[in-house]
Amino acid sequence: MEILVTGAAGFIGSHVAEALLARGDSVIGVDCFLDYYPRAAKERNLRHVRENARFRFVEANLVDADLAPLVEPCDAVVHLAAQAGVRASWGQDFRIYVDSNILATQRLLEAASTRRRRFVYSSSSSIYGDAPEMPTVESALPRPISPYGVSKLAGEHLCRLYQQSTPLETISLRYFTVYGPRQRPDMAFHRFLRAQIQGQELTLFDDGSQTRDFTYVGDAVRANLLGLERGTPGAAYNIGGGSRVSVNDVLGVIGEITGRPPRVKRLERQRGDVRDTHAAAEAAAAELGWRPATQLREGLAAELEWLRAEIAASS
Ligand SMILES: NC(=O)c1ccc[n+]([C@@H]2O[C@H](COP(=O)([O-])OP(=O)(O)OC[C@H]3O[C@@H](n4cnc5c(N)ncnc54)[C@H](O)[C@@H]3O)[C@@H](O)[C@H]2O)c1
Repeated sequence: MEILVTGAAGFIGSHVAEALLARGDSVIGVDCFLDYYPRAAKERNLRHVRENARFRFVEANLVDADLAPLVEPCDAVVHLAAQAGVRASWGQDFRIYVDSNILATQRLLEAASTRRRRFVYSSSSSIYGDAPEMPTVESALPRPISPYGVSKLAGEHLCRLYQQSTPLETISLRYFTVYGPRQRPDMAFHRFLRAQIQGQELTLFDDGSQTRDFTYVGDAVRANLLGLERGTPGAAYNIGGGSRVSVNDVLGVIGEITGRPPRVKRLERQRGDVRDTHAAAEAAAAELGWRPATQLREGLAAELEWLRAEIAASS
């Protein structure tokens, strides 16, 4: 297949592009190198696919590029491009979230809906907000508590609209806090591990008893590959790591794999941060044949090894 991967220079997108190439597909990767974090890090993400003859990279912004020539040759679209990050979504910068998460998604859906195609949308557990029930099922009422969550939910609704009214077959994958090699520098594990490698104090928001259903990037990638073939058009699936872990427990594991307990500075809980997340993963198991495979310790060790090399390469 020929597959369009948006956000191909990003954390999850670069892994998805690599996995598709590894299984024999051709990939058109699109990214605009949004400056949320340095372009150099994204260029390093792309190093693994740039040389592949079945990979073509197009630097373009989905907000204003002519999308028809990009989408037309493709059998399917994996849409990962977005302005990520909960905390930055308040205030003036919400405009960037509206552009890259809502308008860009609508433009891509419009361009892709000319014929029957699979369209896999990267959604987020943040659409649930502080869900009253754990584990949270997909039918729970979405009540995001951050502008980011609102923008991702709007993207989901757009996908369902285009699924209902055009030949497009959309499915949404609601990832729960993805981690592993190439994780974004604003994300907690990346910040924790970087501080630990550099012998610095690490900063923790809230008291550390907040829990997350942390998901290894390889597992999130596999959900995308499965979503290209399976899953009910119009549906959304939770993609969660399979175990709910507190941030304090994560710090314990980080202490063990780095050989010294972290020094932690605790700050107040940030606006828009949910208290707990826990995915009910039965629908993904039944309909996509997806189950998480990587345990937290193993995944954190892989991220640590990558980050050590990354720090060495960029210094
Ligand atoms: N990382 C997580 O834990 C997590 C959790 C839930 C959902 N998601 C979703 O997964 C997707 C990938 O997230 P990530 O963590 O890899 O983020 P990332 O920032 O590393 O990757 C996103 C990429 O999209 C690109 N991009 C943004 N707007 C664009 C536009 N208008 N045109 C072209 N390219 C554009 C960025 O330059 C970036 O390289 C996003 O849709 C995000 O909302 C991520």
